[in-house]
Amino acid sequence: MYYPEELIEEIRQKNDIVDVISGYVGLQKKGGNYVCCCPFHSEKTPSFSVNRNRQIYKCFGCGEGGNVVTFVMKYENCTFPEAIKQLADKAGVALPEVEYSEDAKRRETRRQRLLEVNKEAAKFYFYQLRTPHGAKAKEYLDKRQLSDEVRKNFGLGYAPVRGEELLAYLRQKGFSDDLIRDVGLAKMSERGTTTQFWNRVMFPIQDINHRVIGFGGRIMGDADSGPKYLNSPETEIFDKSRNLYGMNYARSARTGNIILCEGYMDVISMHQAGFTQAVASLGTAFTPGQAGLIKKYTRDVLLAYDSDGAGVKAALRAIRILRDAGMSGKIIDMSPYKDPDEFMKNMGKEAFQDRINHAENSFMFEIRILERDFDMNDPEEKTNFHNAIAKKLCEFSEDVERENYIEAVAEKYHIGFDNLRKLVVNTAAKAGGYAVVPERPKSGIQKKNTPEENVKKAQRLLLTWLTDYPQLYHKIKSYITPADFTIELYSKVAERMFSDIVNNSLNPAGIINMFADEKEQSEAASLFTTKLPELESEQEKEKAFHDILLSVKRNSFNYYSERLGVDLSAMSQVIEGKKALEELSKMHISLN
Ligand code: CTP
Ligand code: MN
Repeated sequence: MYYPEELIEEIRQKNDIVDVISGYVGLQKKGGNYVCCCPFHSEKTPSFSVNRNRQIYKCFGCGEGGNVVTFVMKYENCTFPEAIKQLADKAGVALPEVEYSEDAKRRETRRQRLLEVNKEAAKFYFYQLRTPHGAKAKEYLDKRQLSDEVRKNFGLGYAPVRGEELLAYLRQKGFSDDLIRDVGLAKMSERGTTTQFWNRVMFPIQDINHRVIGFGGRIMGDADSGPKYLNSPETEIFDKSRNLYGMNYARSARTGNIILCEGYMDVISMHQAGFTQAVASLGTAFTPGQAGLIKKYTRDVLLAYDSDGAGVKAALRAIRILRDAGMSGKIIDMSPYKDPDEFMKNMGKEAFQDRINHAENSFMFEIRILERDFDMNDPEEKTNFHNAIAKKLCEFSEDVERENYIEAVAEKYHIGFDNLRKLVVNTAAKAGGYAVVPERPKSGIQKKNTPEENVKKAQRLLLTWLTDYPQLYHKIKSYITPADFTIELYSKVAERMFSDIVNNSLNPAGIINMFADEKEQSEAASLFTTKLPELESEQEKEKAFHDILLSVKRNSFNYYSERLGVDLSAMSQVIEGKKALEELSKMHISLN
């Protein structure tokens, strides 16, 4: 069911959030808000707060937040259309009877059909492995020490030498050759329809709902007859950039982290050892879409990539992608073994758990890899290495964070702390024409937030400030744009918020409605409810706002500086950013 945005907005406006929530739980007025004990987690003192002006709710205990629609969805455990229906009935708004369009119906049945072909093929391969034809494949899996349980869970199978058998089986099930080709199981050749896979061990690739969307096929033994792995091509139901091997099990692993591996075999071997949070990409490099998929479950990703050169390169790429997605990556040391599969067979799971516990921070990993490019016995190269470190340290927009890393790097590489710090200041000054490095924090180490968290926090705070003081936008609008918000969701919110302010119609609850996904709604809600520090004087407030603004702008500058040559819009962002930073750092912005 699909309703127009205006209708959803009308329904939301006709359902006052305080009235609706009062129908479920007892609310108490406290200051400008209404509070109660949170219905979404157990607690004794109320941290659930409803704001009538903004038409949103937020629990400061569990972080749950949103508007009236998300509340109903969450409380009634229902879908978005169901919540809309219920609220429409309550407010007496008539909903149009929307039928699935013919087109949409056809698309849906086609998807179902393609999935059915795959399911049948997977059944066929699974069965073949258990017949005498599959004896060699079985022997191969025995040699790789895979238990019956994982063979079953991952639906491992065998594609026989004679491809016609699969075709005959599928045709007899009523599938047309066209359909079999469209799902990537066969190709058209001069000999007619021929199968994609033959004489390979088959790995069905499942989406998070356990539906088979594609296959990987491995030759038995070493790669002499063709590629080691052959995968299904991308199809209407197989998007390699948005699915992960093993995610259907990893999503419910409840370990609080995900282990990203390179290969199918690694994933299976990890699951067999009890690390059911292991996943792998699908024969292609890790993508932002896959980071997004993981982020729905956790932000902590441990990389268990191969320890060879290609693996290290892939890990460095993955770290960047995770960082851009606001997630934190750590690297598991697999030495002296090549990959998790080998490690597990030789060292066992306790040793692997120990490696997980000692996984390396991704920034320190990057520096360690960087070091390999320099000859530390040559004074000039050593200096170059230190300069390269300083440049990387400038990427941290949060001062405390940067200081912590300067300290850690200085210690590990035996560089004087003050020298390294000076180098960072100079590098920052050269790059951006501004030198904003404060006094070293007195306590030295402070609570460790990851740089990504700090970047997010600054962007979130800036949006919260602007919700509280919308008029400030007019003073800063020539310096800040939605593109400065490097977190995609924040950028969308900023764009809408800025235009709302200009039109004098700022409406946080409406902005939350822009997002259909529950997680995104909750995250958008947190933008309007982040607690601003309690500051006494006007002066303190002005300074805090100024700091946050600079921090967001500085991060944006660094972000786009990194993308020069990759992203076409980066150049103008950098030039504009540099100018804005220079002006902003000299400027005084009063709150009134
Ligand atoms: N891969 C591929 N095509 C190849 C080689 C590799 O698609 N010709 C992909 C597969 O997804 C594979 C992953 O890259 O799982 C990692 O490759 P590799 O480390 O060589 O394979 P493993 O899964 O570790 O398999 P094995 O242990 O059997 O070598
Ligand atoms: Mn491998």
